[in-house]
Amino acid sequence: MPIQFLLDFFLKKPKTSADFHLSLRRDIHAHLIPGVDDGPKTMEESLGLIQRFQNIGFSHLTATSHIYQQYYPNKKGQLIDAFIELKKAVTAYDLEIEIDLSAEYFLDDHFKQLLTDKELLPIANDYLLVEMPFVAPPPNVYEYFFDIQISGYKPILAHPERYMYLTADDYEKLVNVGCQFQLNLLSLTGYYGKPIEQRAFTLLEKGWFHAFGSDIHNQHQMQALEKLLSDPKLAILKDQHWLNEFL
Ligand SMILES: [Fe+2]
Repeated sequence: MPIQFLLDFFLKKPKTSADFHLSLRRDIHAHLIPGVDDGPKTMEESLGLIQRFQNIGFSHLTATSHIYQQYYPNKKGQLIDAFIELKKAVTAYDLEIEIDLSAEYFLDDHFKQLLTDKELLPIANDYLLVEMPFVAPPPNVYEYFFDIQISGYKPILAHPERYMYLTADDYEKLVNVGCQFQLNLLSLTGYYGKPIEQRAFTLLEKGWFHAFGSDIHNQHQMQALEKLLSDPKLAILKDQHWLNEFL
């Protein structure tokens, strides 16, 4: 399908309300680079997603492809090369949105090695976005957050509300050891199920989230995000300052 056709399709008018909160213009978690993980498969798909982010008012995105040795064994150099190609395409299609490069690191032995080798792609120089398994925590989970910090980085745990095995005590401990929590916006919509939606609101009420992200992988999720942005329930995010504003 020609790129221009896709872009024309996605250039339809934004669905969001005019009072789009300023801090919401910055997304620190999105899968934007084509063909490297379970995000967009082609450059056309990537550009379509980025166009839609722009349409709904985002001004700055961070591309956070998975670095997960078992399933997505991406290397820093390969991601940099692919990101350069993406930026060229974004410029060629006159998309006026800032995009920078980071990654979503799975907590495993490979990550520990990257930390030792300093082969990392942090957000804003010193924040590392990390994820854990969905079925059980990695062994010695707190050790990872300690190691990240003694290496000079600040850990941001992606979508803690999606790890159903975590208890209220676990969340509190993680916050106390210096872990910052990133809410997935789609968790508020019930996109991942009602229990995760409820947990997201509980963590919000506790004030434990520091940042938010879309974690967008595809057009289907983008459609859910567009819908959320005109939902009054999003107002709950306006009561606090988000790390997003400072990155
Ligand atoms: Fe992600």
